[in-house]
Amino acid sequence: MKILSIVGARPQFIKEAMLQFEINKHKDINEIVVHTGQHYDTNMSDIFFEVLQMKKPQYNLGIQASSHANMTGKMIIALEEIMIKENPDYVLLHGDTNSTLAGAIVASKLKIKIAHVESGLRQTPKDIPEEINRVLIDRVSDFLFAPTKIGVENLKKEGRVDQVFFTGDVMYDIYLKMKPKFDYEIYKSLGLRKENYIVMTLHRDFNVDSEEVLKDILIETNKISKEIPVVLPLHPRTKKKISEFGFEDKIKDVIIIEPLDYLELMGLTENSWKIITDSGGYQKEAYFAKKKACVLMEDTGWKELILNGNNVLVNSSNLFVNVMKNKDIDYIDGIYGNGNAASKIVDILKRDFYCKETDDEC
Ligand code: UD1
Repeated sequence: MKILSIVGARPQFIKEAMLQFEINKHKDINEIVVHTGQHYDTNMSDIFFEVLQMKKPQYNLGIQASSHANMTGKMIIALEEIMIKENPDYVLLHGDTNSTLAGAIVASKLKIKIAHVESGLRQTPKDIPEEINRVLIDRVSDFLFAPTKIGVENLKKEGRVDQVFFTGDVMYDIYLKMKPKFDYEIYKSLGLRKENYIVMTLHRDFNVDSEEVLKDILIETNKISKEIPVVLPLHPRTKKKISEFGFEDKIKDVIIIEPLDYLELMGLTENSWKIITDSGGYQKEAYFAKKKACVLMEDTGWKELILNGNNVLVNSSNLFVNVMKNKDIDYIDGIYGNGNAASKIVDILKRDFYCKETDDEC
């Protein structure tokens, strides 16, 4: 049984790591990993393979992030060649990036079964890149692996019921698996005190590409920094925009550092007071670590955390007020599964493969 997995951006390395741990337990599965190259800085890519003990991808397309059409188009061309050559039984896709979309387009036209991990998330507005990608990817996928019950409901509303599985979230699996290895001491090297700092991440196009919006967020963040230290591991996209708009002086009090690897970021999170983020994955990782996240988004695919009051949606004008509010969270076990999402996914694919081979009623 052959699986071809496609990764390209930072959150996908984390999700793929968990699938690899699971796939490696099965001697009858041959997994080929393709890295599109969308993320390429060492601290955005290579370091994740290292700290998460992943195998080196068999293919690296070296297609660095550029405009959406440019990168997606190049990926489609390169992935078609590889999929024809490798002829996998399944293509495994993660999340909602341009790398995922490119993989979905190619596999569906080559009639290779697509397994979409993190299926069914939906959010408004409909025209953000990740939402466009999700809807298109789910539409052509054969196996829809939903991390949440809300994801399953979203798919149902779109008429998808067959081959929809509530598996739980592979990011929760890897959180549990790697927790003993987190770098719990990192806050000390940044001169911080336990439970007395905020970790912030910021990179989404709707927050950083507009000069006005970015300025307001940075001013508000600096105001927060005067009350409690804010550490901001800076995503390359945000770094470029801050320098392009000349906003360095707006965040003089914020502790700006290079992007962290998974073990460092999670270790820093575990000892923090609160989180500010616009990352899909990190708002949930905050919850795993029992920290409240102020989510700089109009809406989120992880609605359960908003509905149960653990995370709060904020914008540049109410960021300060919300961050300063209480930090209590009401942790509910099980909403992201039980740490066995990856194992369920692999089992479902194996069952499908062997049923097909033997033509049995499985
Ligand atoms: C992408 C995903 C987003 C995900 C994020 C995680 C899409 C549409 N978006 O957004 O869903 O949350 O990854 O980080 O696929 N850059 C570097 N070095 C790198 C990576 C990026 O300099 O290692 C630069 C790129 O050249 C580009 C900018 O950062 O100028 C944005 O990169 P891109 O991959 O387009 O989007 P992200 O914002 O990272």
